[in-house]
Parts: sequence; structure tokens; C-alpha cells
Amino acid sequence: MIRPIRTAVFPVGGLGTRFLPATKAMPKEMLPVVDKPLIQYAVEEARAAGIEEFVFVTGRGKQSIEDHFDRSYELEDVLRERGKNDLLDAINSWMPKSGQVSYTRQMEPLGLGHAVRCAKALVGDEPFAVLLADDLILSQKGCLAEMVEAYNRVGGNLIAAMDVPQEHTRRYGIVKPGKDDGPLVEVKGLVEKPKPSEAPSRTAVIGRYILQPQIFDHLDRVERGAGGEIQLTDAMARMIGEVPFHGLRFSGTRYDCGDKVGFLQANIAFALEHPDLKSEVQDFLRDIARTL
Ligand code: UTP
Repeated sequence: MIRPIRTAVFPVGGLGTRFLPATKAMPKEMLPVVDKPLIQYAVEEARAAGIEEFVFVTGRGKQSIEDHFDRSYELEDVLRERGKNDLLDAINSWMPKSGQVSYTRQMEPLGLGHAVRCAKALVGDEPFAVLLADDLILSQKGCLAEMVEAYNRVGGNLIAAMDVPQEHTRRYGIVKPGKDDGPLVEVKGLVEKPKPSEAPSRTAVIGRYILQPQIFDHLDRVERGAGGEIQLTDAMARMIGEVPFHGLRFSGTRYDCGDKVGFLQANIAFALEHPDLKSEVQDFLRDIARTL
């Protein structure tokens, strides 16, 4: 029986060192792309996929994330007095309801696997999704919604996958592929950040996962891996053969917003999707292109 996905985990406990000094006193996940923080895009994507429980794994200096997912009565009063109903809608319409959001603290940023392990008590014994807010995906349907649809057919573990240039394999977890029907690829093995010459394919794991709860047992047992961190990839690799395991080549474009260039690209791409901004941004880009 394939059990439904009701809960999503948002690991937001990382230090964001690639984005210093911006992230010295501000969480990376609160960096705005056009007019919304990265974490809001991730939560909206999860809601569009039918998620009902939102679990944040936070750390020191991440309080602004909690504030963002809370009512702001003073601001609401001012906006109401000024008749700014569109802005009232902009600050509230996407919020999960009271009781749907919970927080736990990672205490030490020991890696993504460790962050996910911290959510065990809040997730319980059911399959769940993990979304990394710094992987921002521009797509019609929403990456997680597309994954949930595929998961409802194949069950087990499902990761978002994307083919990357051979020379970039060392930036990602890479899939050793089995049966491959284009969108859906069977995962026979996973290697964290391999050299291009040692990579089993060019199919990379992107920051969206649907995982069975047995992952928590494996996370308890894995040793520190690449970079001295407890790697989610290592725990997932141990589940190959234990549960069905697939990668979904999702439709849409992924921007690595943990990286400066990826973040700038995301701002341009999302601005070009924004009806109020599109034509001004296009003019600006044309002007710049002429000077290059
Ligand atoms: P990254 O691998 O981008 O790490 O994390 P990072 O520490 O945030 O950033 P850099 O590499 O130092 O610039 C991917 C996601 O996993 C979370 C991060 O908050 C981010 O959303 N994460 C990472 C944790 O929650 N805890 C960790 O220990 C590490």
C-alpha cells in the first residue's frame, strides 16, 4: 500500500557560508527572490502538493523564519486602516494555518542528514517530503506536486533528478541509474559529489525528496561522510533494494539560490514571470546586453 504524503520537512539550519556576508545575521532561506523569501516559495510549493504539516528544522539566528510564518497584527492593522487589501492578502493568503507548523532546532549544523534526523519525532512513522529552499524551481505545476503524482504510482523513495554537465558532478549527489524511461529513472546507487571521471551518470539529485520513515533508522547509523557532515545521500543509499527507489526528472528550471550566480539568475527569471515587472526588466536586460 502506498501511504500518502502529508508532512514536509524544511531543513533551514545551515550556515549559508557561500552567501556571506549577507548571511551573517540573516538566514539564507530569507533571501528574497523578487519579493518573496526563498522559504516562502518552498512552503507554497509544498501546499500546492497537498502538504498539511510543515516541519522546520532551524538553528541559531533563524528566528525571522518563525516570524515570517506568524501573523503580524500591527502590520495588518496599518494595512487595513490604509485600505491596502492587496497587501493584506500578500502577507496572509499563503500562510499555513495555526497548528500546521512546527519547529525543532538542530543545535549544531552537522549536515543535511542530521537536520532531517532532528525531525523524526515531529514526522512520526509515515512517509514525508523534504524541501531545500535554496533549490528554487520555476515550474508550471510545482516540482513537489509532480513528484507526489509519480510517488502515488511507484511509492518508496523518490528524489528530484536533473541531468547536469559532466564537469559539474562534484557539486551533487549522483545517481547510478537502472531502468530509465525518461522522466522516471530507477536509482541503483548514489554517490555524493563524485569527480567527473568517477561519476556513474550525469543525473544529479536536487533538493526535493520523498522518503519512507525507515530513513531515520539509517540516519542513526551513518557515520560522518563528505565534508565531515552526516549526509542524507549516505542514508538514502542504504535504502536501495529495501524500498522502490526512483528519480523524477521534473519539468521546470532549478536555480541554486545558495550560490550567488544561481541567485541572480533566479531573480531575473522570476522577474520575467512577474506581470508587473516583466516589460521593465526586459528593457533593462536589452540595454545591458547591448553594452556587453
Ligand atoms: P547547504 O548544503 O547549502 O549548506 O544546505 P549551508 O550550510 O546552508 O550553506 P553553505 O554551503 O555553507 O553556503 C542545504 C540546505 O540544508 C540545510 C540548509 O539550511 C539548506 O536549506 N542544512 C544544511 C541544515 O538544515 N543543516 C545543516 O547542518 C546543513
